[in-house]
Amino acid sequence: MNELKIYDVTCEYRKNPIGLDVKKPRLSWKIQSDRRGTTQLAYQLQVSLKFNFETPIWDTGYIESEQSLHIDYAGPELKSTTRYYYRVKVWDHFGRQSDWSDIAWWETAFFETNEWKAKWITPNPQELDPASEPAFLLRKEFNLKDGIESARIYATGVGLYELYLNGQCVGEDLLAPGWTSYSKRIQYQTYDVTALLTSSSNAIGAMLADGWYKGDLSWDCTRNNYGTKRGIILQLNVRYDDGTEDLLVSDHTWKAFTGPILYSELYHGEVYDARLEQRDWSKSDFNDSKWMGTDTLDLPLENLVAQENNPTRVIETIKPQAVLITPAGDTVLDMGQNMVGRIRFTVTAPAGTKITLKHAEVLDKDGNVYFGNLRSAKQTVEYITKGEGMESYAPVFTFQGFRYVKIEGYPGQENGLNLEHFVGEVIHTDMVQSGNFKTSNPVVNQLQQNIKWGQRGNFVDVPTDCPQRDERLGWTGDAQVFIRTALFNYQGGPFFTKWLRDLKADQLPNGGVPFVIPNVVDGDSSAAWGDAAVICPWTVYLSYSDTRLLEEQYPSMQAWVEYIRAQGEMEYAWNTGFHFGDWLGLDSKEDTYFGATPDELIATAFYAYSTRLLRDTAKVLNKVDDVKQYDELLIRIKKYYNDEFITPLGRLAVTTQTAHVLTLMFDLVEGKIRERISYDLNQLVLENDYHLTTGFVGTPYLNLVLSNNGYHETAVKLLLQETFPSWLYSVSKGATTIWEHWDGIKEDDSFWSDDMNSFNHYAYGAIGDWMYRVVAGLDMDETEPAYKRIRIQPRIGGKELTYARATYDSMYGRIVSAWNITHEEVTIEVEIPVNTTAQIILPFANKEDVKENGIIITKVEGIFDICQTDKGVSLVVGSGQYRFVYKNERGFRTIYSANTRLIDLLLNEEMTKTLEMYVPGISNPHGQLARLKAEPIEKLLYHPMSKLTEDRLNALINELNALEEKLVTVQQ
Ligand code: BGC
Repeated sequence: MNELKIYDVTCEYRKNPIGLDVKKPRLSWKIQSDRRGTTQLAYQLQVSLKFNFETPIWDTGYIESEQSLHIDYAGPELKSTTRYYYRVKVWDHFGRQSDWSDIAWWETAFFETNEWKAKWITPNPQELDPASEPAFLLRKEFNLKDGIESARIYATGVGLYELYLNGQCVGEDLLAPGWTSYSKRIQYQTYDVTALLTSSSNAIGAMLADGWYKGDLSWDCTRNNYGTKRGIILQLNVRYDDGTEDLLVSDHTWKAFTGPILYSELYHGEVYDARLEQRDWSKSDFNDSKWMGTDTLDLPLENLVAQENNPTRVIETIKPQAVLITPAGDTVLDMGQNMVGRIRFTVTAPAGTKITLKHAEVLDKDGNVYFGNLRSAKQTVEYITKGEGMESYAPVFTFQGFRYVKIEGYPGQENGLNLEHFVGEVIHTDMVQSGNFKTSNPVVNQLQQNIKWGQRGNFVDVPTDCPQRDERLGWTGDAQVFIRTALFNYQGGPFFTKWLRDLKADQLPNGGVPFVIPNVVDGDSSAAWGDAAVICPWTVYLSYSDTRLLEEQYPSMQAWVEYIRAQGEMEYAWNTGFHFGDWLGLDSKEDTYFGATPDELIATAFYAYSTRLLRDTAKVLNKVDDVKQYDELLIRIKKYYNDEFITPLGRLAVTTQTAHVLTLMFDLVEGKIRERISYDLNQLVLENDYHLTTGFVGTPYLNLVLSNNGYHETAVKLLLQETFPSWLYSVSKGATTIWEHWDGIKEDDSFWSDDMNSFNHYAYGAIGDWMYRVVAGLDMDETEPAYKRIRIQPRIGGKELTYARATYDSMYGRIVSAWNITHEEVTIEVEIPVNTTAQIILPFANKEDVKENGIIITKVEGIFDICQTDKGVSLVVGSGQYRFVYKNERGFRTIYSANTRLIDLLLNEEMTKTLEMYVPGISNPHGQLARLKAEPIEKLLYHPMSKLTEDRLNALINELNALEEKLVTVQQ
């Protein structure tokens, strides 16, 4: 066995992708080694048309380079519709050489528009009304010769389509062709159908529904957003082993009809009458003499692009947990999880039996199914049986967001439903899971699960706000706040590449960015929403070192910043236009969705942030003039921000939590002012008994700025807070996904409102980023993207969390950061992939005291640059697995002092009792002393009502510490 091995070889992020139209695809690989500190010294790549690599078309030879991500193919020009095999070998710094990797491949699709010989077709509108509801069926018979070597279908639709060949469904993709800005870009799919064809007569069939192209979209349920006629274009390219080729194309000779799908809408569900199935309609001996004609459709071919995102599929199936009979008498399936997808069921019933499924996310306070928050989305599926024995059905061109399913008409349901007949099919973009996060606290772990489920349900080809009501749109703000968390949980390179191309395509001529992408609603260019144009490509770059995407998006990023610059009279401020502000912030006035932080502050802060990221992008892309230009712009925006929002002595003039968060997060202040604003933010949280008041804009960064500015323990308390408003409040109310509102379900179990109350909205799940990066401590040095230089810095804060573990499958390989504390010991486990290095900070550690696998660290091979800092021990390591153990100097004890905040005592019953003995009345929330609760205990000395003397204060502190000692001992 060779100790140096290559695995996970990918092309454009994917393993063996079929149907790429990228002319210079990028190749990446991971390396496995049994020696610590392995880095790649050199690589050799070969690309061949034949599996045996006897005559490679491209051989890089020995290239001395550490690069193992995104190597551009640089061989002869690629041909379309061709499979290319590739393999790689590497050398390391220890002088070892790997074997060749397993052979991988990619296959090209079309590079030129004129390779499309097919025509767009649609049922003849004279015979079949384009506005009619049923899904259309299209078919064509054709003959092939003997000796088929390979066959590919290239196809797409306007509307949603599903293909059948000789009676079998082609592929597993759902909701093809996915949702893009159809008037500018439509993805086509490539299917390997070699195994489905016969060397005589064949038939192909396509089902076609409205989908995103012409079905209801947005709260207005506007129809025909992109066109009035559904259509498909399809080309079957067949290669024979004698070198000849055959072609079957969509044209006016195809026939059309309608079938069992009487109605299908993304929001509203499907009606399927199985009695109308046309048996064998996609087989060659079917009699289609009654079928109607087709017409060609005049749609451009230039808009066709090969599939960019991973396809949407059934990713998992889950069984219902229970069947309930509600107080209203409804029979309801409980899936145990708020999921997105569909129900598949089997039934045996006489022909014409109608079974109805109505999907909902939650039950109301009485235990009845709640449909109010769906607004006009019906989420209803109806199936009418054909009565020929056991039937199995799941809707085809729709999906639902639900945990509960009200069932009507299922035979015998009054005597109980057999759960075996139902299964939930979870549907979303097929992404590789890349991250996991776990702690010692099961409620936090549930939060992490909820974040992941929120991502799954809202990554159905486009990053959406929610998956259930009449919206399900690519809201830019939501995507922007969540992207960094998203890219921890799942590999999202192709997903965001596609969406960002749509953003660029839909960007307005003046650089403004529509509220939703693809753009199907009025409105554009709100601060923090439009900034997705800059934040999202930058975040993809950080995660995957994708400079090509940055290059591609640069004009769009720049146009957005220039758009802002051109607004209003003042070049360095953004104080005009409409903004969503700190959307849903809890500091808002009654009856409004807009938080209390002024628009101008948010807009100018984001203006600075986008300018900074644009400058950094220009640096990466070597655009020297732009670096200078945007650096200067940033300085001026910051100056304006300081002049306008910071008082001369350094206080923030706006007293909301969100204003403090943005000021710190975007580095708008420095030095003493930064310290003061951090202190004030902490005070604001303490004064609110460790509760947040932030909305969409402040929430994502709240914990991050607290942790990074000296208040990590406060951030941890916010995470662990279970009372409203908090992340764990929704978990305590039984949430299995992230809610749109902090109080989607109120403390008395009533609902916030029907109007806007999604129970599956990932935005507040943005805390996941901080959980990975800070709580578990798995982070990167951003100057070397894609975790080339890792930073492991667990933050151990408070005794409430004793364990956290994050794993992340980076482009280089798996990274692990895990810590565990007992009263005596701290254990930190780390895994660093080959070809990267890591700086590790062991918090509160003493250099002399740390052992790695039993050996004192100064003597361990592969550990460099060990130095003692005020934070602990800092060291640098290369690849490998490490296990550090050292004494927990601090134990679990909190040490009380004159600086301890009163609130930290008041939240603990025993401590409060002690405190009351010294300062009677202190715990009365309406008393005179209540306003001191966020202050250090010593402040009481100066309050006339407290009657606390210096001596009594010292006695109090001693007593508190003694009590703590007792409590900790009991806990052990
Ligand atoms: C969506 C949000 C979105 C917002 C704009 C809502 O209807 O669900 O998530 O960002 O509108 O403020």
